[in-house]
Amino acid sequence: MAIQWFPGHMHLTRKAIAERVADIDVVIELLDARLPGSSANPMLAELTGHKPGLKVLNKQDLADPERTGPWLDHYNAQPSTRAIGLDASQTTPARRLIEACHALAPQRGGMAKPMRVLICGIPNVGKSTLINTLVGTRKAKTGDEAGITKMEQRIVLADDFYLWDTPGMLWPRIVVAQSGFNLAASGAIGRNAYDEELVALELLGYLKRHYAGLLEARFKLEGLASLSDEEVLESIGRQRGALLGKGRVNLQKAAEIAMNEFRSGTLGRITLETPEEFAAWLAAGQLLDAQRQAKKDARARGKKRAPSGEDASADGG
Ligand code: G4P
Repeated sequence: MAIQWFPGHMHLTRKAIAERVADIDVVIELLDARLPGSSANPMLAELTGHKPGLKVLNKQDLADPERTGPWLDHYNAQPSTRAIGLDASQTTPARRLIEACHALAPQRGGMAKPMRVLICGIPNVGKSTLINTLVGTRKAKTGDEAGITKMEQRIVLADDFYLWDTPGMLWPRIVVAQSGFNLAASGAIGRNAYDEELVALELLGYLKRHYAGLLEARFKLEGLASLSDEEVLESIGRQRGALLGKGRVNLQKAAEIAMNEFRSGTLGRITLETPEEFAAWLAAGQLLDAQRQAKKDARARGKKRAPSGEDASADGG
């Protein structure tokens, strides 16, 4: 799916991370528990020099609990990585975060060696909400420090525990097609960057296969299995009175309804990917990407061999 956004913001965030990372002990990545794989920054390990990582599966109240468990296991099985689930209903998340960071960097702690943590995440994943809760509960100070990029904010969670915030960031190219749809469905991507109908159709297709009961119950759909994704979208529009003239359904409105109900959790607790599914999508995406790159390279080589106006065979080939 063609999703376009302004990459300038991302370049600044990259710079902020690169400037700070040498003095960081643990990198917290906030993931959306409804799409952990798709909301994980594929460039993060490279950006952070493979520092120990805490994966926080946020908004777990909206995610399918039966899928959050396997995702936590998946991350906990990775070297130098821990994972916890979190949501905004937890009023004192600091203790769990601090404990997990100490487990990842046991050599840090105390005034002489304070724990230094960087927190990253895609837009809308709930980073501000979490930080506000942390700041509120710990009455932490925020402030600038000489040499720190203005985009960053240092939060003192305890006398020996500092957290640096980074702006919400998306990467420039999404290799996994399904991730583009899932990120858009979750609200991480500005609505002008994608076609809402297309995203809603993908979402409904997935829900039809994996959460048919929730879809049927919420939109009073009958015979869901026999409906195409387009027919499901139309039925939702009709059921909610999203109509144009002459009984035609306002598909744009129907798409908005379906997506809003997913985002708010009104549809139910849903997770759009399992670790196995995501691994398969990633492998397919990487293969396609490599094939595209090979074609591009071949074209570039062809152009080099045949400068303008000349036939490639003139080069002796
Ligand atoms: P960001 O800084 O990462 O961009 O995200 P932010 O905290 O602004 O949160 C984005 C939206 O997600 C907000 O909703 C926020 O209330 C909601 N949110 C954050 N954490 C959780 C969570 O754990 N569970 C649930 N269910 N929602 C969460 P909003 O509608 O955009 O704003 P508002 O109406 O809450 O102000």
